Amino acid sequence: MSIDLQAPDYVRNAEALAWIQEVVNLCQPDAIHWCDGSQEEYDSLCQEMVEKGTFKRLNPEKRPNSFLALSDPGDVARVEDKTYICSRRKQDAGPTNNWMDPKEMKGILNKLFHGCMKGRTLYVVPFSMGPLGSNIAQIGIEISDSAYVAVNMRIMTRMGKKVFDILGEDGEFVPCLHSVGMPLADGQADVMWPCNNQEKYIVHFPEERAIWSYGSGYGGNALLGKKCFALRIASAMGQDEGWLAEHMLIMGIESPDQKKTYVGAAFPSACGKTNFAMLIPPPSFLEKGWKVTTIGDDIAWLKRGEDGKLYAINPEAGYFGVAPGTSYGSNPNAMDSIRSNSIFTNVALTPDGDVWWEGMTEEEPAELTDWQGQAWTPGCGRKAAHPNARFTAPAHQCPSVDPEWENPQGVPISAFIFGGRRATAVPLIYQAFNWNFGVYLAATIGSETTAAAQGASIGLVRRDPMAMLPFCGYHMGDYFNHWLEMGRNTPNPPRIFCVNWFRKGPNGEFLWPGFGENMRVLKWVVERVRGKAYGIESPLGWMPKYEDLDWEGLDFSREQFNEVMSVNREMWKEEVLSHQSLFDKLYDRLPKEFLLMRELLLSSLWRSPERWRMADERYVDISH
Ligand code: GTP
Ligand code: SPV
Ligand code: MN
Repeated sequence: MSIDLQAPDYVRNAEALAWIQEVVNLCQPDAIHWCDGSQEEYDSLCQEMVEKGTFKRLNPEKRPNSFLALSDPGDVARVEDKTYICSRRKQDAGPTNNWMDPKEMKGILNKLFHGCMKGRTLYVVPFSMGPLGSNIAQIGIEISDSAYVAVNMRIMTRMGKKVFDILGEDGEFVPCLHSVGMPLADGQADVMWPCNNQEKYIVHFPEERAIWSYGSGYGGNALLGKKCFALRIASAMGQDEGWLAEHMLIMGIESPDQKKTYVGAAFPSACGKTNFAMLIPPPSFLEKGWKVTTIGDDIAWLKRGEDGKLYAINPEAGYFGVAPGTSYGSNPNAMDSIRSNSIFTNVALTPDGDVWWEGMTEEEPAELTDWQGQAWTPGCGRKAAHPNARFTAPAHQCPSVDPEWENPQGVPISAFIFGGRRATAVPLIYQAFNWNFGVYLAATIGSETTAAAQGASIGLVRRDPMAMLPFCGYHMGDYFNHWLEMGRNTPNPPRIFCVNWFRKGPNGEFLWPGFGENMRVLKWVVERVRGKAYGIESPLGWMPKYEDLDWEGLDFSREQFNEVMSVNREMWKEEVLSHQSLFDKLYDRLPKEFLLMRELLLSSLWRSPERWRMADERYVDISH
């Protein structure tokens, strides 16, 4: 028996109708809901979820039109070990991705999806990644059996009826099929957070440009416009078509002379992109007229402009940000973005119906309901919020949102900043000598793993090239080649910098104050790309000395700076050794330039002192 689609008349795309019918026949939902993207629809879906227990409406006086969802404790983050790139040939997915033959995988998925929506409503969620109608934007249709997904997609993307208007009769779209993997047989009662903890599959078919996701309702596993489409599928599109899809924030920096510089920055998951994208400069910088604006906090699509520069758009329309650690101290713009119209997942609930998480306030509330729905008191030994708890908030609610954030042409990018979370070895800031060396440095960045990926042991250093290790939709060696190729074909490519906000001292405390103070580093970056700041040549690239940064209003001594900028030769030899093991893994498709650059780096490290830092016009020995 096949149920009638009852498609609205504005759906005229034959391919979409055929695909949706096919999915309906396969998944056998009880009902179909065509999302129009209206506020009324959003409100009523949220209300339905309140009635079912999936959502708790927060206190309308404290947090208007906002909701709390608590997930199943087994469904709290991206599942990297269940994420597959099913290219036709295994070597096209490369050794850093899980792979299975597409036919074999379709066999598994067809079985899993067969009848998987019984007892549920199927939501058709049309969306655009990027401003509607922009020639950089791409269209997707997500089919999901989760109302939570539908309402989150309305915040995170341009979602609704208008997308079908743009799609017309024969426009192209990426089919994104999602199920929580928990059919309700014969009146079986639903649970608050349906998912499937036995079987999860997040699957990409890059040649077919299709996504199938089964078993999880959480974040990047389920909001398929984000990591699955805008990074994994889009990176494969970009390789074919000569553009880049990156795990990057985009921000604007306005100097006192009112010149604007845009930069893109790639840090791994939960390593500070949202904080950096919404940075508020220290008071002394604000007084002088420095200003920072936000275009995006997670994903950038970059294309070459006619003037030879790279232009970036943020394909998203909202923030799906890490809640713990977010406070009026660390990120006031994020706090203002989530004052209303927001969805909170896996944070704690206060007795007066508001949200709380670790680090939100200096003082812990006397009592809470934690992310698992249990009573919580300070010192009870459990975290109130899950470390990967998230907020979903509309981008336009951010006070620092850039006036150009929806410009369909994008904004010209002058610098790329790459970073990781490294307690040791990696200095605060250094600039690559040129594009190729910058690509090398970005490709070999290491970072300690975080709670954003499920099951991994947190805090282990792994190589995370361009912060794209979990998100590259094809062979990482080909990806490096694509980056080098982009540089060859871009007359005026962004300058490349590396940063590390996370270096620690012997007592385990951060050596760098971070957050707003990162402006001091950013100012050097901006002045470097404008040809206005000094850098000294070191084995790692150009580095500032103490005098090259603006310290007004911060008590940060020369000794402290030297510590956070110091380079230990032997540690860096270890680094270079681990570059080699990444290269060995990718050997068949590794750019041969990388082997030469590694040699160059090693030979200049060999000739450097045991420990060095910048001083005067050179780097000096501080071994003793
Ligand atoms: P995804 O959304 O997972 O891609 O991550 P993101 O990079 O946007 O992560 P986010 O900005 O939410 O990172 C949050 C974590 O980074 C929290 O643990 C913050 O405390 C920490 N963090 C952010 N900026 C800084 C900083 O300048 N210094 C230090 N030490 N920690 C920072
Ligand atoms: C990340 O893990 O990098 C995120 C969160 O941005 S999620 O969308 O869940 O992947
Ligand atoms: Mn991310």
